[in-house]
Amino acid sequence: MFNEIAAIFKAQFGYSPECFSHAPGRVNIIGDHTDYNDGFVLPAAINFGTNIAIGKRRDRKIRVFAYDCSQMLIEFSLDTIEFNAKFTWVNYVAGSLKMLMRAGYLFSGADIAVSGNVPQGAGLSSSASFEIALLRAMASLYQLELSGIDAAKLGQQSENEFVGCNCGIMDQLISALGQCNQAMLLDCRSLDYQLASLPEGYSLFIVDSKVKRGLVESAYNDRRAECELVAKHFSVTALRDLTLAQLESEKANLSAVAYKRARHVITENDRTLAAFTALENKDMTQLATLMRQSHNSLQTDFETSTPEMNYLVKTINAFLGEQGGARMTGGGFGGCVVALVPIHLVEQVKNLVISEYTHVFGYSPEVHTCNAVNGAFSA
Ligand code: GLA
Repeated sequence: MFNEIAAIFKAQFGYSPECFSHAPGRVNIIGDHTDYNDGFVLPAAINFGTNIAIGKRRDRKIRVFAYDCSQMLIEFSLDTIEFNAKFTWVNYVAGSLKMLMRAGYLFSGADIAVSGNVPQGAGLSSSASFEIALLRAMASLYQLELSGIDAAKLGQQSENEFVGCNCGIMDQLISALGQCNQAMLLDCRSLDYQLASLPEGYSLFIVDSKVKRGLVESAYNDRRAECELVAKHFSVTALRDLTLAQLESEKANLSAVAYKRARHVITENDRTLAAFTALENKDMTQLATLMRQSHNSLQTDFETSTPEMNYLVKTINAFLGEQGGARMTGGGFGGCVVALVPIHLVEQVKNLVISEYTHVFGYSPEVHTCNAVNGAFSA
C-alpha cells in the first residue's frame, strides 16, 4: 500500500521515510447536517483515502510535498504558522499541526509526502482524510499518545478555527475510527458509537454528479448559523434537544426558513436512529424508505440538494423500487449521491445512470462502487 508514497518521498527528500499512514474518505448513509446540531449520523469509511510518508526533522521546519497538487513543495516553520490564502491545501497540514501543538503534544519538524485518491470537492471528505492521515503520521513519528477521538477533535478544530469551515465532527471521526464492512451510528454529542454490518449482497454505490461544490463553506456556515438561531430561540443547547411537537407549537413565531431547517434536523435524527435499527434487522425496505425521506427533507427543508443530485436520486430510486434506496450525501450544494444497490443490479444501474444523466446534463457522472474499510486509528 505504501510503496508508491515511499518512492515519492525518497525522490523528493533524498532519504527513506520513517513512518506511513493511510486515512480513508467517507460516505454518509444517512444523517446529514445533524452532526453540528449534536445529533446522529450513520457514515462508513470508504476505500478511497490519503497516504502519507513522513520523516523527522530537528529544526521545527515542515516541508510538505503534495504529489497530487501539481507536485508542489511548501515549507513553513512550526513557530510561525499562518493561513495560506494562495495554496489552501496546505492549511489542512498547518491547521492540524497548530491544534496538535496547542493541545500540548510535543514534537519537532517533519518532511511529509502526501498523495490521495479521494475525489476532491465531491463531498467524500478528502480534507478530513488528509487531516486524519497527517495526525496519524505525526502520532507514529513522534510516538504521541493520540486516540482516534482526539485526532477527530483536533481535525475538526482545525477546520473550525483555522480553515474557516464550521463543520461537525462526523468526517474526521469516521476517517479515524471506521470499521471494515460496518456503518457507524455516532452520537455527535457524547461521541459514543455503535456499529452495524452493511447489508450483505448490496453495494455501497456512489455517484458523483461532477458538480463541484461551489461556495460550499459560506452556504454551509449559513445553514449552521440558521440552526443555532432556532436552538437559541428555544433556549436549548442544540436542535438535538428539540422535539417536533415543540417546534410545531412555535411555528407561528419562527420564519418559514428557520422552521424548515429545524424540521429537517429533528426528523433526520429520528430517521438516522431508525436506519440503524433497520440495518441491525437487515430490513432493507425500511432502510431504503428512510433514505428516500432523508433526500426529500434535504431537498425541500434544508435546501442543500441540486437539480443534478435530485435527478440522480430520482432515477436510481425509480429503477430500484423497494430493492434499494438513494439519497444525496454529505454537505451538499453539489457532490455525490449514495445508494444501496443489490450487487446483481449494479451494472444495470450504473449503465442507466450514466446514459440518462449524460443525456440530460451533457456530461457524464462518475460511479464508484465502494466498500467500508477501517479508519486510520482502527485496530
Ligand atoms: C460536511 C461536514 C460534516 C457534516 C456534513 C453534512 O461533510 O464536514 O461535518 O456536517 O457536511 O452532514
